[in-house]
Amino acid sequence: MPSVKSDVVDVVRFHPSDVTMGDEVYAGWRDAQLNDFPDQTPLDRASIQSLLENPPHGWTGEFYAATVDGRIAGAVLLFLPGLDNTHLAHVEGWVHVGSRRQGVGRALYERTLERLPELGRTTLIVRIHDRADIDPPAAGPRFAEAVGMSCAMTEVQRRQYLDEVDDGVFAAMLADCWERAEGYEVVRWTDGADGPTPEEHVDDLSQLLVRLDTDAPHGDLRIEAREPDPEAVRALDHRNRAAGIRLVHTGVRHVASGRIVAWTTISTLPSDRGHGQQQITVVDPGHRGRRLGTLAKLENLAYARRVEPGLRLVETCNADENAHMIAINETLGYRVHGRVHNFQKEI
Ligand SMILES: CC(C)(COP(=O)(O)OP(=O)(O)OC[C@H]1O[C@@H](n2cnc3c(N)ncnc32)[C@H](O)[C@@H]1OP(=O)(O)O)[C@@H](O)C(=O)NCCC(=O)NCCS
Repeated sequence: MPSVKSDVVDVVRFHPSDVTMGDEVYAGWRDAQLNDFPDQTPLDRASIQSLLENPPHGWTGEFYAATVDGRIAGAVLLFLPGLDNTHLAHVEGWVHVGSRRQGVGRALYERTLERLPELGRTTLIVRIHDRADIDPPAAGPRFAEAVGMSCAMTEVQRRQYLDEVDDGVFAAMLADCWERAEGYEVVRWTDGADGPTPEEHVDDLSQLLVRLDTDAPHGDLRIEAREPDPEAVRALDHRNRAAGIRLVHTGVRHVASGRIVAWTTISTLPSDRGHGQQQITVVDPGHRGRRLGTLAKLENLAYARRVEPGLRLVETCNADENAHMIAINETLGYRVHGRVHNFQKEI
């Protein structure tokens, strides 16, 4: 069906404090999630509210809803970094299931393109999930191409199902990793829903976060590396805690220097503690090639299973060019589940 003209769509700004409007936007988002990703439990209303009220450290958020005949038909969320990457806007958008192919998405996109130059932003990035096993294929990538965005990087999403894990094989792999890891020890902690990040780790983690920015492939995305910022680690933890997100971490400490030189994390949402998301895996360049990445992931999986006894799967996304990380994941039994396309538009 061709798009109806976007002049029947009104786009209005909303603030998270408008609870009535927020409820309607949330209900449409939840239906869209259940329709587009039936294999995931959508985040609850309170957690979403908290994430909107607490953008990432130094960022601001602006939120717009599309209405047709007075009813909300979709929304777009603009997230704007303020301390670095100030040319960027990270955008998330969706259209309610019953309102698709009527020009609502296009109207939201056009409003976004009008607004971003007013905010001094020149580059828009949107991450679009695309499940591997659906027919017809997901609307998002086709919409993004139709409105003139281009894909700057594709990530492959993989899942590890824990009922398929052979504990004996993993124990042997871990023993093999430890053979090569003399002079290192692991540290474990949980934060977010469980409390703050231990202060003694914050400096090391802020350094490792920057390595992730500089060393993980970014394709053609116009993302600039940040400076190490301990406050960003504390603020991220605060944001996760407010939203009820639990993070299970394993760090690998170099005993001689006392520094954490490798780090990995699995997070779970309050809506489904059985579904883990692999968040971060990074090894400091001076300590690579010693299997510390695999060691940290194996140790963290064992720890996450103790912390979250109902954990049934762990999901991860890697740039399709990130050969080292993908090789580790495939050794650990991860299988392709879908893709995430990072579309970009220079304004
Ligand atoms: C992607 C999405 C926002 C599109 O919203 P929409 O209101 O249906 O889009 P529009 O009606 O404005 O479509 C504009 C053009 O995009 C293309 N398009 C949109 N959906 C499409 C689909 N399912 N298949 C092929 N092309 C599609 C078409 O070219 C369409 O123009 P046409 O209808 O005149 O042919 C909506 O499907 C959605 O919410 N998907 C899930 C969330 C998501 O992927 N968000 C990412 C947004 S970038």
